[in-house]
Order: sequence, then structure tokens, then C-alpha cells
Amino acid sequence: MIKVENLVKRYGNVTASNHLNCHFKKGKITVILGGSGSGKSTLLRQITGLEKPDSGAVYFEGMDLTSLGKKKLYKLRKKMGMLFQGSALFNYLNIFENIAFPLREHTKIADNIIKTIVTMKLEMVGLRGTEDLMPSQLSGGMMKRVGLARAIVMDPKIIFYDEPTSGLDPISTGVIGKLIKDFNQALNITSVVVSHDIESSFKIADNIIILFYGDIIAEGTVEEIRNSDDLRVKQFINGEPEGPIPFTRTDKNYLDEILFD
Ligand SMILES: Nc1ncnc2c1ncn2[C@@H]1O[C@H](COP(=O)(O)OP(=O)(O)O)[C@@H](O)[C@H]1O
Ligand SMILES: [Mg+2]
Repeated sequence: MIKVENLVKRYGNVTASNHLNCHFKKGKITVILGGSGSGKSTLLRQITGLEKPDSGAVYFEGMDLTSLGKKKLYKLRKKMGMLFQGSALFNYLNIFENIAFPLREHTKIADNIIKTIVTMKLEMVGLRGTEDLMPSQLSGGMMKRVGLARAIVMDPKIIFYDEPTSGLDPISTGVIGKLIKDFNQALNITSVVVSHDIESSFKIADNIIILFYGDIIAEGTVEEIRNSDDLRVKQFINGEPEGPIPFTRTDKNYLDEILFD
């Protein structure tokens, strides 16, 4: 569905994407895992066409979206649903209008049909009857679910989730994970999830990509990742405080010297 080729993105002297090669399989849930600052969001912005790479390509259904003009990209992006980090609801719009927003923005669908669609999507995330509430009246978990309803309102072929469970309690985390899995099956779509939460990712992922300061250090099924011999992967999935994963980029240069020279 999506193929990333030799993707490079630098911010000043930080290489956020360091010659990345990976792919996202149709109908599957792929989780991009990595610590804070490892380049997860940067990769997501590039594969959704929100940001252009310095070099490399991103093929979406065979088309390189990094070379598309604004108009074509805009059209392509209608096939993508997105749940941004922190839900990104409009706090001045009620729940109904938040979910209806992409329909009003991208289509000429009549009001009564919009009402039916929004009601249906709210039902799917278990929030029927909350249409008139404002975002500030919802819990964090509910906000994510509204974001989820908005992400599927245009019937996308692929959904991208940036940290869908960050800041949620374990129960809400489970609910969101289950929704992501259910959506993937019921809507027959492809899902890409960015996360630093290992346990909840392992529960939903078909495939996992682990980023480490701009590099892909592992890619495979949950089983393959669990059995990885890579010290950095082991430390990351076991959440060990001591180990080769450094906490700053300066440490990483030092690490590169001792590990790879
Ligand atoms: N717009 C930007 N301008 C400057 N630096 C950025 C920008 N976006 C990301 N970065 C840097 O790129 C690196 C990767 O960031 P990001 O993709 O947000 O990581 P993650 O989502 O894994 O936490 C970080 O060092 C971050 O500071
Ligand atoms: Mg991020």
C-alpha cells in the first residue's frame, strides 16, 4: 500500500529520517515504535504528504507522493484518515461539528446525509448522544474516540494514528486499541500507528517498525521483534533503564563509536 524508499529528512544538524526504507502492507496494522525524538512523527508527516523529504520517495498505491503537486496531493489525501497526536479537536466546535468538519471541507454532501454519517461514526466509537457536547466536556479517552470518528468520516483507505493512547489510563488504552483493530477489520482498511507504548502495540500490530534516532533498527512481526538479538531492540521492548539506548543525541554519537566502529 505504501512504500518508503531512501527517505531523508534533516532539521539543522538533526537527521530525523536517515535513509529509511520500509513498507506498509495493505489490510494490515503496522506500528512505528520508538522513543521520544526517534523520528516517528516526522516519518508520519512525510508518508501522509504533510511534509516533503529532503530526498527519497514515498509510493502510495504506486504513485510517488513526494513529487505530486498541491492539487493531486490534496486529492490523494482524501483517501487518508488521520488521528493526530493529542486528538487535535477544534475546541470551539461541538462534537457533531468536529466530526462533520472533513465532510463540510471536502464534499458537498447535504446536511441530512451528514447527520446520518456523523451519527453512524459516533455509534461506531461508542459515543452516540454526545453530539452537542463541547470537547472540554469530554475525558481524554472520549476525545481520542471523537478524533477516531473524525478520522473515519470520509471512509478512508488508510488511517494514520499518531500516539493514539498517550496519556490514557490502561482501560481507555485498551478501548482505543480494540477500536483500531476492529476498524482495520470491519472497514477493510490499512492502519499505521505511531506509538511508544510497547505492550499496547504488541497487542494490535501485524507488523512493527522500530525507529532509533532516525534509523530503522528493526522491522518484523511481533514474534520477530520479541526474539530480536539487537541490544537496542531488547532494551527498548524490555524498558530497561540501563543499556545501550542513550538519552540524548550526543550520547548516540558516542554509542555509534563504541558499537559500530
Ligand atoms: N519541525 C521541526 N523543526 C526542527 N526539528 C524538528 C522538527 N520536527 C522534528 N524535529 C526534530 O527531529 C527529531 C525527530 O522528531 P519527531 O519526529 O517529532 O520524533 P518522535 O515523534 O519520535 O518523538 C527530533 O530531534 C526533533 O527535535
Ligand atoms: Mg511524535
